[in-house]
Amino acid sequence: MRFRNKVVWITGASSGIGEALAYAFSAEGAHLVLTARRQERLEQVKNACKGEGKILLLPFDMTHLDCHATMVGAVIEHFGQVDVLVNNAGVSQRSLVMETDFSVDRRIMELNYFSVVHLTKQVIPFMLQHEGGHIVVVSSLLGKFSTPLRSAYCASKHALHGYFNALRAELYDQGIRVTIVCPGFVKTEVSQHALRGDGTEHGQVDPSIAKGLEPNKVAQRIVDAIHKKKEEVFIAGPEGFALLINRFAPGLFSKIIRKARVT
Ligand SMILES: NC(=O)c1ccc[n+]([C@@H]2O[C@H](COP(=O)([O-])OP(=O)(O)OC[C@H]3O[C@@H](n4cnc5c(N)ncnc54)[C@H](OP(=O)(O)O)[C@@H]3O)[C@@H](O)[C@H]2O)c1
Repeated sequence: MRFRNKVVWITGASSGIGEALAYAFSAEGAHLVLTARRQERLEQVKNACKGEGKILLLPFDMTHLDCHATMVGAVIEHFGQVDVLVNNAGVSQRSLVMETDFSVDRRIMELNYFSVVHLTKQVIPFMLQHEGGHIVVVSSLLGKFSTPLRSAYCASKHALHGYFNALRAELYDQGIRVTIVCPGFVKTEVSQHALRGDGTEHGQVDPSIAKGLEPNKVAQRIVDAIHKKKEEVFIAGPEGFALLINRFAPGLFSKIIRKARVT
């Protein structure tokens, strides 16, 4: 019960990592705000939560920035504060640079980066009023290195590190903590909803994702990291070695990754 009576707002809570986080935080005694576009899936998640905390469903499209202030207002009216904001909603990509329409590059940045920055900036004033709060950002190993077929996705995740490392430094003395989560492959709907170059969904469960980590285990590691106020956490299977190769042998990494077409 490490988060008893804390208000935890999870975006992208209708499936995958966000859904698993809802169950994990509920079991820890938290009150939840669950956001995604699919309301019926949010209802199912709410019904499957076992904890005694209250749950507010707040379905909306994160890229509709003009409704963020209203949504934050609804959370504050309901719970009075936000203790933890978990920016988890995101979309991946399955297309080569030259086969990707620029509108798709923009769409990925709008959701994975700009919507996260915008919502966070709406929430922080209320955290400051309560003398503290915790911002969590679900990035990826691909926020640390890049692979083919994921150019805009890698860019959006790299951008999160740049922005939120600065935010952490600026607001540390005012009690705001920032945890950036970098998962490897996790068994979720991510590859099904990943965008192709023309903006349509990839629609397939990729082998890498099918063999990925279980979302519940990943969620547990994320909750532990938030509790310990870790600044950055890596949660991955064997693909995590790529991080080490990139860091300690970048020339070798560059040669290997040219040939990679991970699906
Ligand atoms: N699975 C992996 O291997 C992996 C690895 C590294 C990082 N990640 C990151 O983990 C996060 C969660 O992804 P996942 O793997 O759990 O995939 P997922 O099962 O596809 O979940 C994505 C979530 O984001 C929500 N979402 C998508 N577009 C949205 C929008 N415009 N507005 C509001 N919500 C939106 C989806 O709900 P609706 O469709 O109902 O809106 C869903 O709840 C993402 O940021 C992803 O980049 C995943």
